[in-house]
Amino acid sequence: MLEVRDLHVAYGKARAVQGVSLHVDEGEIVALIGANGAGKSSTMHAICGVTRPARGTVSFRGKDITGRPAHRVVPLGIAQVPEGRLIFDDLTIEENLVLGGITRTRASERARMASVLELFPVLAPRTDETASNLSGGQQQLLAIARGLMSDPTFIMLDEPSLGLAPLAAQEVFDLFATLRRNGLTILLVEQNVRQALAIADRGYVIESGRIILEGESPRLLEDEGLARAYLGIERRPADAPNANNEDGGGQ
Ligand SMILES: Nc1ncnc2c1ncn2[C@@H]1O[C@H](COP(=O)(O)OP(=O)(O)OP(=O)(O)O)[C@@H](O)[C@H]1O
Ligand SMILES: [Mg+2]
Repeated sequence: MLEVRDLHVAYGKARAVQGVSLHVDEGEIVALIGANGAGKSSTMHAICGVTRPARGTVSFRGKDITGRPAHRVVPLGIAQVPEGRLIFDDLTIEENLVLGGITRTRASERARMASVLELFPVLAPRTDETASNLSGGQQQLLAIARGLMSDPTFIMLDEPSLGLAPLAAQEVFDLFATLRRNGLTILLVEQNVRQALAIADRGYVIESGRIILEGESPRLLEDEGLARAYLGIERRPADAPNANNEDGGGQ
């Protein structure tokens, strides 16, 4: 469904992504994992047209969409839920959702909102409330609901569990299984390696702009290097060889 080949992203002289290749097949959940600054968001931005890649190609359903701006990517069925959620605090839940819809008549917008809200029982009865009333976990759900308003077939989420309490994070991860059952294909950017790989079919590990490891989730979870670099830190923070990787601060 999505095929990224030899992607390079640079900000001036800073080379954020240096030759990333990955693919996501229809119906899959794929995790892109890596520490702060590894190039996860830059990869995602280049796929969905927020950033123009310096080199490489992005194709979706066999069509070359490299460098195509975001407003021309969304109509193809690609949605993005950005890092940090970017919910408008002082708007209502409904108003936030409307911002995720595209080129809709009022009637089709209503219908889409109703079908999206079926997946979010915590949001559905509260559409007139301002988003600032929601907890962090609920705001993340709202960000995902907003992403779904454009009726995508493929959705990319950038660190959806960041900053959430474990239970709220689990709720967000559980939602992905539901979305997949509803026919969505998912690319999940995460630092929460264990939970991401628990739900994903496959994963890619990115370090300094390069994919250093890839494979099916169970195999990745058994990988010694990955366990040392990520999972060991999650288990025993005091022993972490590189404590920067696990603070989840997203700086
Ligand atoms: N707009 C920018 N201008 C300059 N450098 C940038 C910019 N955005 C990202 N970078 C740099 O590119 C590299 C990759 O950043 P990116 O945001 O893609 O990483 P990330 O894996 O998403 O990290 P995080 O987990 O902190 O979100 C980092 O070294 C970062 O400092
Ligand atoms: Mg990021």
